[in-house]
Amino acid sequence: MSRRIEQQSGLDCIKPYVPGKPIEDVKREYGLDDVIKLASNENPLGVSPKALAAMTAALPRLSQYPDAASYEFRSALAQHYDVDMAQVAVGNGADDLILELSMAYLEDGDEVVVSKSSFPMYDVHAMAMRATLVKTPLTSALCIDLNAMADAITERTKLVYVCNPNNPTGTIVEAEAVDAFIARVPEHVLIVLDEAYVEMVDSDAFPDSLDYVRQGRENIFVMRTFSKVYGLAGIRVGYGFAHERIVSTLMKIKPPFNVNVLAQAAGIAALTDSEFVAQSVTANKIGRNYLCREFDRLGLCYAPSHTNFVLVHIGPPASGIQQQLVEKGVIVRPCGGYDLPEYLRVSIGTAAQNERFIQTLSEIL
Ligand SMILES: Cc1ncc(COP(=O)(O)O)c(C=O)c1O
Repeated sequence: MSRRIEQQSGLDCIKPYVPGKPIEDVKREYGLDDVIKLASNENPLGVSPKALAAMTAALPRLSQYPDAASYEFRSALAQHYDVDMAQVAVGNGADDLILELSMAYLEDGDEVVVSKSSFPMYDVHAMAMRATLVKTPLTSALCIDLNAMADAITERTKLVYVCNPNNPTGTIVEAEAVDAFIARVPEHVLIVLDEAYVEMVDSDAFPDSLDYVRQGRENIFVMRTFSKVYGLAGIRVGYGFAHERIVSTLMKIKPPFNVNVLAQAAGIAALTDSEFVAQSVTANKIGRNYLCREFDRLGLCYAPSHTNFVLVHIGPPASGIQQQLVEKGVIVRPCGGYDLPEYLRVSIGTAAQNERFIQTLSEIL
């Protein structure tokens, strides 16, 4: 009898990541012409114009492999953020860096501390490496509970992920709390500070986490992405800052050409596009304030957002309301998969999209 090939056992409890429903699928399924998607925290202003021009100019170079070390790109990031180039890692999206960190540091039986209701790819890659996930609850204010995370660390802990601001809640942990947390975490544990939404944070109390890297701390990885404020989600480019020992470890296992020619060109140019960043941040703030005002008017509670999305409390039928929104051409994210079944996560869109979402939601409610 022939034996079937079996996937490795770490994958047995992994459910595939469910992305925001694509616009074309909803058009087809419900026979709609005009569908908007506020489900994947993309930039509603589009792509950074400078990045777009750089990618266009780089097109003729597509016959060549990209620079495996991303030399120019990493030195541009180092200069922009005032760190050493040896402290800069880049990846095919921040997702790729999560995968690389997991592959580089985890083995059977290691523990990874994550918060409940946080970014799911930490869990996926930890499980794939057959590490044990240790989950801590959110605080009653829907913030990551750093005390609970520090309490959960053991001799076997290798990685701890702090998503700040947190996806899907949009909430932050402040500098003082992060400092106290870092002081409690032993040096054998790598602390990943995932700051995918850092540019949208609206608080003076947010940590300047690059300072930990500049100070030469060996167990901090600050992770960021070009997917959000630079509008480059489709080209896949993320980056991180850490001690050079960590960066050189990642270099050993990353696929050699993981950041493609267009992505490297786009990243370098996007860093110079301060005008687009400022426009995006301002538009996001206006949209966020509008949504929060409208939620107040509708009597709906929401978490204080420091991101380009808002988590709003709808009540027990949240997925039913989400389905009705889809049927009316408005795609938002249900949060059952994040352990928050009474909530919807709504990405901030253009003014017209935000108004359409509020009008449609008001009709349904
Ligand atoms: C908190 C967080 N981290 C990481 C990522 C992944 O970013 P990227 O598009 O660079 O892979 C996302 C994407 O939504 C995110 O929300």
